[in-house]
Amino acid sequence: MNIIFLGPPGAGKGTQAQIVCHRLGIVQISTGDMLRAAIAAKTETGLKAKTFMDAGQLVPDDVVIDIVRERVTAKDCENGFILDGFPRTVEQARALDGIAAIDAVINLDVADEALVSRLSGRRVCPVCGAPYHVDRLGGETRCSVDGTPLIQRDDDKPETVRNRLTVYHQKTAPLIDYYQGKGTLRAIDGSVGPEAVSEAILRALEANR
Ligand code: AP5
Repeated sequence: MNIIFLGPPGAGKGTQAQIVCHRLGIVQISTGDMLRAAIAAKTETGLKAKTFMDAGQLVPDDVVIDIVRERVTAKDCENGFILDGFPRTVEQARALDGIAAIDAVINLDVADEALVSRLSGRRVCPVCGAPYHVDRLGGETRCSVDGTPLIQRDDDKPETVRNRLTVYHQKTAPLIDYYQGKGTLRAIDGSVGPEAVSEAILRALEANR
């Protein structure tokens, strides 16, 4: 199955993509993680992306579309993938139509007020990208997967979070109508606990088969 996870920053796309990929045996493709890896490696793409990401703006469409085009044709994507954070504009969605067939689009719905608190308390593993929240870490400071010390993302500062939410409403929210029109959109309440969200997603995907 080829799936898109749509939703505002902090809606739980990364959290749920890790769980659902594990359950379905498919791969997670996070454009945010790929761009952060490019920045860490100081590649040309990373240098182009950094200014936009630090400001909470979207990286230009052509840069991200090229990254995804190359990634989804890799051998490990043959059984299916979850696109986590792509597409984010109508132009990216149109490009994706020519790259891969999409079976389902999961839209995680969470109110803006809850997103600000989720993002300001988020900690992530800089190696595997696993997201955590300080409220549920119980004082733990390392990744439960690989033991790496957790960090706070640069773009999780309150003023950058507000920019990211504005950009989401202007540029990404129109994709809800785009995929509704194609009949592939499945709306999921992302405001409940992570386990309940996973179960709702898996039920929606099962009904889609
Ligand atoms: P990206 O890394 O994709 O960030 P994002 O979409 O803003 O999403 P986040 O990673 O912030 O949130 P999430 O929905 O994955 O939530 P998470 O599971 O971590 O993109 C970063 C930047 O890269 C963009 O701003 C842009 O510049 C650039 N970029 C990336 N893709 C691009 C594209 N296609 N085009 C152009 N530019 C692009 O959860 C958040 C927190 O909430 C965690 O602490 C988590 O533990 C907690 N949480 C999760 N689920 C729940 C729950 N159910 N209840 C309570 N807490 C929860």
